[in-house]
Order: sequence, then structure tokens, then C-alpha cells
Amino acid sequence: MRGIFVTFEGGEGSGKTTQLKLLAKRIRTSGKEVIETRDPGGTAIGKEIRTLLLHPGSVPIDAATELLLYEASRAQLVRELIVPTLSRGAVVLCDRFTDSTLAYQGFGRGLDLNLIRRLNRFATDGLAPDLTVLLDLDPGIGLTRCRRGASADASTGLSTESSCWDRIEAEPLDFHQRIREGYRTLARENPDRITVIDAGLGMIEIEMIVWNQFTRLQDRSGYAIS
Ligand SMILES: Nc1ncnc2c1ncn2[C@@H]1O[C@H](COP(=O)(O)OP(=O)(O)OP(=O)(O)O)[C@@H](O)[C@H]1O
Ligand SMILES: [Mg+2]
Repeated sequence: MRGIFVTFEGGEGSGKTTQLKLLAKRIRTSGKEVIETRDPGGTAIGKEIRTLLLHPGSVPIDAATELLLYEASRAQLVRELIVPTLSRGAVVLCDRFTDSTLAYQGFGRGLDLNLIRRLNRFATDGLAPDLTVLLDLDPGIGLTRCRRGASADASTGLSTESSCWDRIEAEPLDFHQRIREGYRTLARENPDRITVIDAGLGMIEIEMIVWNQFTRLQDRSGYAIS
């Protein structure tokens, strides 16, 4: 039986990692196998690529190189981890996936959206999430959350390893605004897959909305949590 594939999307500091961990905990408590991963990352090759992307060194990374590195990491993640995990009937929760590339490299950097769609399809071998949780937040608020990051995480006990502060600082606010609008466009284009949640709500409130969406998906797909 095929498992369930859920991705978390949204701007920097919107709460993706927090909500992924909260959903993983609930699924695990219900007795089901769940794998938490992230894109880029998630495999040994992906981790090396992630390091390259986040710390490219002294030479600026070209937008085309950046796009291909994201897709390369994704190709490995899908084949090495996601597909085998889904094949044994487990749940996969992934922190960012194909929509991030459309939002950041497409709407953000202005690369051709159709080219990115084709590269996404090639990298994923056509695999699409069953559910995408889009955490929609004003980038200014995300920025404030990133600043507070470490201390807030200490109070919740959830380590989210947020490293968004550097990346927010490196780009003008209108870059992040374009990403937010891009994500909203993707949600309008994929209403059955993408659920938009107001990320300004409290953590627990969002957790309940995500859990409801997940259980509805389970019911629809006839996938029983034991
Ligand atoms: N609903 C919420 N309300 C207020 N603060 C929140 C909420 N959700 C998460 N936070 C806090 O905001 C910060 C960023 O959260 P988190 O790391 O989960 O976001 P992220 O989207 O994964 O960020 P990044 O883009 O860096 O990966 C953390 O300190 C977290 O505790
Ligand atoms: Mg995160």
C-alpha cells in the first residue's frame, strides 16, 4: 500500500519546521511510521548540496546553478528516501519541495516557470505531494520571528534549526513579497493539493487545522492509521 506524502511550504520563518514536527508527533503517537525530511537535504548527497546552497563561499552563486542544485538534491531525495518510504506504506513529511523552487527561483528570481515545472517533473519522476500545507505570512513578521528564533524555540522545546535570518537579510523585502504572492498563485492553481493556512494564527490552532487536513486526506485515500 502506498503511504501519504505531505509537504510544508511558505516563506522564511512562517512555521514550516514547527508544524512538520507537531504533525509528525501526532502521527507517531497514533502508531504509524512517519519519516521527517527536508528539501534540500534529507540524504548524504542532499546535505552536501544544501551546504553549498546555504554557504556558497565567496563567489556569488548563479541563479541557474542554484536552480539545478536544488533539483539535483531533490532527484536524490525522491529516489533514495521518499519513494521507498511511501512504497512500504509509511507517511513522509517534507520541509519544502517543488513549490519552493517555483516560488523562489520562479516568482522570486524570475526564472522561467515552465522550465522549472519541467525540471521539477524530471527530478521527482512525476511524484507530487498528496497534501501541501502552505503557511502564509507577511514576510516582515517572518523576519521578526527569525530574529527571535533561538529564544522562542527554547520556550517551545521544538528545535527548528531555523537559519532564515541570513537569507532574509541577504534579499530585499520585495523579493520575499514576490515569493508570498507566488505561493498564493500556486495555491489558486492547485486548490485540491495546497491548503493555505494563515500562519499568523497560534501554533496550536495551526496544528489542529493541519491535523484535520491530514485526517481528511487519510479518510479520502482509505489509509488507516492503526
Ligand atoms: N504560529 C506561530 N506563532 C508565533 N511564532 C511561531 C509560530 N510558529 C512558529 N513560530 C516561531 O517562529 C520561528 C520560526 O519557526 P520555524 O523555524 O518553524 O519556521 P520555518 O518556516 O521552518 O523557518 P525557516 O524558513 O528558517 O526554515 C521559531 O522561533 C518558532 O518557534
Ligand atoms: Mg525551517
